[in-house]
Amino acid sequence: MNTLRVELGARAYDIHIGQGLLRSPGIWSALPLGQDVLIVSDDNVAAHYSETVEHALAGHNAALHVVTPGEQTKQLSEVARVIDQLVAHGARRDATLLALGGGVVGDLSGFAAACYMRGIDFVQLPTSLLAQVDSSVGGKTGVNHPAGKNLIGAFHQPAAVIIDTDTLTTLPDRELSAGLAEVIKTALLADGAFFDWLENNMVALRAREPEALATAIRRCCEIKAAVVARDEREAGERMLLNLGHTFGHAIEKVTGYSQWLHGEAVGTGLVMAAHLSALRGELSETAVHRVASVVEAANLPLNTHGLTPSALREAMGHDKKFKHGQTRFILLRELGQAWVCEDVDSVMLDNCLESFCA
Ligand code: NAD
Ligand code: GLY
Repeated sequence: MNTLRVELGARAYDIHIGQGLLRSPGIWSALPLGQDVLIVSDDNVAAHYSETVEHALAGHNAALHVVTPGEQTKQLSEVARVIDQLVAHGARRDATLLALGGGVVGDLSGFAAACYMRGIDFVQLPTSLLAQVDSSVGGKTGVNHPAGKNLIGAFHQPAAVIIDTDTLTTLPDRELSAGLAEVIKTALLADGAFFDWLENNMVALRAREPEALATAIRRCCEIKAAVVARDEREAGERMLLNLGHTFGHAIEKVTGYSQWLHGEAVGTGLVMAAHLSALRGELSETAVHRVASVVEAANLPLNTHGLTPSALREAMGHDKKFKHGQTRFILLRELGQAWVCEDVDSVMLDNCLESFCA
């Protein structure tokens, strides 16, 4: 088992990464759990892992709340349902919520934990690759609004993150690829050597070789923990974690959060961000080609399959990364170095969108 710490003073917490952790009594006994515990999961994940977690909670006053899988569940009415469950369960101020699932369950239940009695503890038990490498760490919680993704939310750090890499054995292939998009993103924004490693290990990752997965998860968590420790509230550096997301969120919005997985949209968004960087003369064509090759090797889409540039432009106007009439993009200077750009030329952006919408 590896343990990393997210250094956030009074809100610091550990990330434990290893095989079989959900079945490990040592992990559970070390967790700061209240007497009242609500496990939130979705149908797919609960079918595999809720019994294991319920078993580990013998001695606690525990209940399980299961939601419908998918992005559509990330909405305010579902937050209200989780809170109804906490009330029905008699959860007190020292109750703990356990988020057992992917990023949807983590974001939704983390936000419910942030709201209930002005904030109760929650623990992330991420089961998708995307959640293990990104969403379970850093305390961004929230839900979508019809006007845009993640428009409603709060920063609420978990009390701990337990990453049981064995859970990836049941993750569908398409979801594995979606998680790989965030792995590629993390390498691209912070660590060129890690990107080189990904080029050489994509086959092993897609084959779910435990050592390759553990290496990728650990490196992503190290990078994210360090960025979050330096900039918890996204005043600066943390914005870099949105590499590929201005494009990705637009794709998700235009397609109604139902056709593309978040990670798929981010994967295409990474290639679009690299291409835009090259159009500005700040990244070589060779580097763009390498980004596209890795995204393709992860079995992620390389274009937007017929969406129109105007629809994507319109969707970007409602993104949180839209400020003072300018959309904020995270661009690349090299593979492993990203920066925040707020002055993208609109003609250049149109050219970029057109080449991916053809
Ligand atoms: P998800 O939660 O919908 O999970 C993906 C699918 O895989 C679901 O159908 C789920 O039931 C299933 N699944 C998960 N783990 C499984 C397992 N071990 N075995 C079998 N099936 C399993 O989606 P996701 O990709 O995990 O997360 C996407 C969400 O995360 C988006 O809403 C995105 O906005 C959010 N996100 C948040 C942050 C953050 O910092 N808070 C960062 C990145 C993404
Ligand atoms: N996924 C972006 C962030 O956590 O800041």
